[in-house]
Amino acid sequence: MTTTTHSKRIGILTSGGDCPGLNAVIRAVVRAATYKYGWEVYGIPYGTDGFIELLTGKRRIEDLRLHEHGYDIPGLLQGLDVLHFLSGSVLGSISKGDPDRHADDIIHGYQKMGLDALIAIGGDGSIEIMDKLAKQAIKEGVAWNWVVIPKTIDNDVPFTELSVGFDTAVNRVTQALYDLTFTAASHDRVMVVEVMGRDAGYLALEAGIAGGADGILIPELTPVLNDGVIYGICQKLASLRRDGRRFALIVVAEGVKNRSGQKEKYIGDYLAHKIKDYCDKLCFSEQPEFCNLDQVDTRVTVLGHLQRGGTPSSTDRLLATAFGREAVDLIANGNYNQMVIWQNGRVSSVPLSRVIEQIKKARKEGKAPSRVDSQGFLVQTARDIGIYVGDLSVE
Ligand code: F6P
Repeated sequence: MTTTTHSKRIGILTSGGDCPGLNAVIRAVVRAATYKYGWEVYGIPYGTDGFIELLTGKRRIEDLRLHEHGYDIPGLLQGLDVLHFLSGSVLGSISKGDPDRHADDIIHGYQKMGLDALIAIGGDGSIEIMDKLAKQAIKEGVAWNWVVIPKTIDNDVPFTELSVGFDTAVNRVTQALYDLTFTAASHDRVMVVEVMGRDAGYLALEAGIAGGADGILIPELTPVLNDGVIYGICQKLASLRRDGRRFALIVVAEGVKNRSGQKEKYIGDYLAHKIKDYCDKLCFSEQPEFCNLDQVDTRVTVLGHLQRGGTPSSTDRLLATAFGREAVDLIANGNYNQMVIWQNGRVSSVPLSRVIEQIKKARKEGKAPSRVDSQGFLVQTARDIGIYVGDLSVE
């Protein structure tokens, strides 16, 4: 231990969909809190539900203490070491709950634990839900001193360039595109790859560029798959074929809607059918530039929850460690109601009130709280190297 302050008891929980790097954050928080400050850290199981379990006696506070020797694999890895590499959350998480209905129990459970502060690792949905709890707690005179660490493979939390889990997911999708390239090439197929991201296109765009996609469709640029977009893809395929390449990789973000603006269960499937039908139509139209669109054969891969797996990338481990340590320092300085952020290669923080304002505004507009900049350098890069991302005219 290098520094001493008044000893604190802090809690940590994970909320919302899991992603690689959550455990690395937990490790970093426990290490910084114990090594730097000599505090006690308690892991709350299953997000805010854990507070209810404490209240009802299903769990005992003393069993939730996280310490250096909490996760031993005898003879191999000691203490918290292993958490650095594991995906998922050792604390468990909830992505659907009804904290509104259980607000009183959650707040009483929090009070019962006697926490000085709470670190919540969550995305936009969890932040919004927990903000309501925090406001109610404060109204009731309970010191809900919290700090948020952003995590999500969607990377759609405002004010931070990176959220924990995003980089690993980009790598997972990039690898999948690489793996699909060879089977696509062997069979002259158009592989449509559906990628997560909710209403944001960060994951699809970054992995699409890194993975060598020929087309990338994201909600920010091609919100609906109208005829113009499908025509653009077919044009791209025709031009690839003119250059002697008969296979292609098309990435579509799950947030893209069908031509009527409705959400499809699997938008990749919808897209693959549309591409096939439209290419056939163009081919039969006997327009000379499309006469090479014969026998376009499409296949769909929905990467699904594989995108949330895998050992966290070095970037995610670094981010998780820097975020965890920053959150502990914020608490040490009594700087609560903050979210840690990553901007320009550095960690800092913003008041949660600003984050929540942005989330609510986006929610009203039916958009992601943080969106790909349609004029940004990544989109421009994709365009300039000939990746189809939608026509400028349709934006
Ligand atoms: O927000 C993360 C995310 O993986 C989204 O990309 C995806 O739409 C959603 O969660 C899936 O949620 P669930 O695991 O509840 O099916």
